[in-house]
Amino acid sequence: MFASPTRSAEVLDHWTARPGWSCVVGYDNDQPVGYAYGAPLPPGSRWWGGLLTQVSADTVTRTYALSELMVREPWRKTGTARQLYFALLSPRREERATLLVDQDHPKVRALYRSWGWGWTTLGDLRPGLPDAPLFHAMLFNFPPGAVEIGV
Ligand SMILES: CC(C)(COP(=O)(O)OP(=O)(O)OC[C@H]1O[C@@H](n2cnc3c(N)ncnc32)[C@H](O)[C@@H]1OP(=O)(O)O)[C@@H](O)C(=O)NCCC(=O)NCCS
Repeated sequence: MFASPTRSAEVLDHWTARPGWSCVVGYDNDQPVGYAYGAPLPPGSRWWGGLLTQVSADTVTRTYALSELMVREPWRKTGTARQLYFALLSPRREERATLLVDQDHPKVRALYRSWGWGWTTLGDLRPGLPDAPLFHAMLFNFPPGAVEIGV
C-alpha cells in the first residue's frame, strides 16, 4: 500500500516499464473490481536487495514477481482475488514466482497459502526505502511442464 496516489502511480510506472510486465483487470459487468500485476525479475534485480536471509544465487533468477493484487472492497470475499491471482500466474513460464507480504498482515500470507501451489517463506526482506516495513519474501516453484495450472 502506498502513501499517496502519486506514489502509487510512480510505482506503477516503474513496473510497467519492465520487460515482460503483465497485468489482469477484473470486471463485474462494466465495473472494474480489482487488478493484479507483476513482471519477471532480471538477474541482479533490486527485489532481492533487502533480503536479510542468505539464499543460494540460483534462487534469485528466473523468477516472476507478483507486485500487486488489489480488489475493491465490495468484491472482497467473493473469490475475485483468487480469480485474478490465477489469471495472472497461470500463463507464466518462469520457474518460480515470488511476492512480498507485510509481516503485520498474517491473514494475507495465510490467504496466499490457502490458494495452494506450496508457497514457502524464503526469508525476511526489508526494501531499501525510507520507513519500509518488514516483509516475508514468499516463493513457490511452478510445477515442471505445467500447461495450465490453478483453476
Ligand atoms: C488481499 C486481497 C486482494 C484479498 O481479497 P479476498 O481474497 O477477497 O480476501 P479478504 O479481503 O477477505 O482478505 C482476507 C483477510 O485478510 C485481511 N487483509 C486483506 N488485506 C489486508 C491488508 N492490506 N492488511 C491487513 N489485513 C488485510 C482481511 O481483513 C481478511 O481478514 P478477515 O478474514 O479477518 O476479514 C484484498 O483484501 C485486498 O485488496 N487487500 C488490500 C490490498 C492488499 O493488501 N493486497 C495484498 C498485497 S501482498
